[in-house]
Amino acid sequence: MRNITEHNITEAVIARFAACDDPRLKEVLSSLVTHLHAFVRETGLTEAEWAKGIEFLTATGHKTDDKRQEFILLSDTLGVSMLTVAQNHSKPAHATEATVFGPFHVSGAPGFDNGDDIGGGAPGEPLYVNCTVRDTDGNPVPGATIDVWQADDDGFYDVQLEGLAAHRARGTLRSNEQGRFWFRTVLPVAYPIPTDGPVGAMLLATGRHPWRPAHVHFMVQARGCDTLITHVFRDGDAYLDSDTVFGVRASLVAPFVAHKAGTGPHAGEAPGRYHTLAFDFVLSRAVGG
Ligand code: BEZ
Ligand code: FE
Repeated sequence: MRNITEHNITEAVIARFAACDDPRLKEVLSSLVTHLHAFVRETGLTEAEWAKGIEFLTATGHKTDDKRQEFILLSDTLGVSMLTVAQNHSKPAHATEATVFGPFHVSGAPGFDNGDDIGGGAPGEPLYVNCTVRDTDGNPVPGATIDVWQADDDGFYDVQLEGLAAHRARGTLRSNEQGRFWFRTVLPVAYPIPTDGPVGAMLLATGRHPWRPAHVHFMVQARGCDTLITHVFRDGDAYLDSDTVFGVRASLVAPFVAHKAGTGPHAGEAPGRYHTLAFDFVLSRAVGG
């Protein structure tokens, strides 16, 4: 085709994929071109705006390295990550819902026994967490591996702090014969996602805040079950309805109960005010599992 116009260019680009022998790649690229072209037409995109977009994506690439993934942050703040999670993890009724993975998981985090303190000296009020892992029929799931990670009282993950000698406020545990696991940590607080890059500039330019409501991340893996990647959010947090990465699900919000010093189930252990969280995780059985 020689007479490419604004009206036939979409068709022309898609036709160039005709020889692609990977049908899924062909489908995804054709759809991408269709939607990108529709976006350019619908907005009447100017050349200056196109250049600004290219500049933004270039800066996003330059900000990305093996420690910082600005493209994922962009996907998160545009709701693309959560949409992908939601459509790939539609759960049977009663199974715990999934949410975004986020950039702060570390594989090979230190292993702990039930009852241990995984806080590792991170600042924050004590939090005692008591959980069960069950399947959708209500059977306990023993031997599940649980990865836990969270921000501290200053709103930082250990991996964001330069020069820390060891991991803190993260670890792995295993569920016991009754499907229970429990540990001590610190109370998480709301924190802003990193704003020193182009995503932060986009949030500022659009009048959006960068905050995530306080939460603890969990990844629960058990033989025969679908892996669950989720968070438990702290009820009452001011950002539950405006999480900057759209990760909140009502079923994942739970009370983090405050106890005065010397009262409640950990009166003898906690030095002052402390909190408790109880949460039951329900895993869906893997197809054929
Ligand atoms: C997090 O919860 O750790 C997170 C998720 C998405 C973007 C930034 C942080
Ligand atoms: Fe987080």
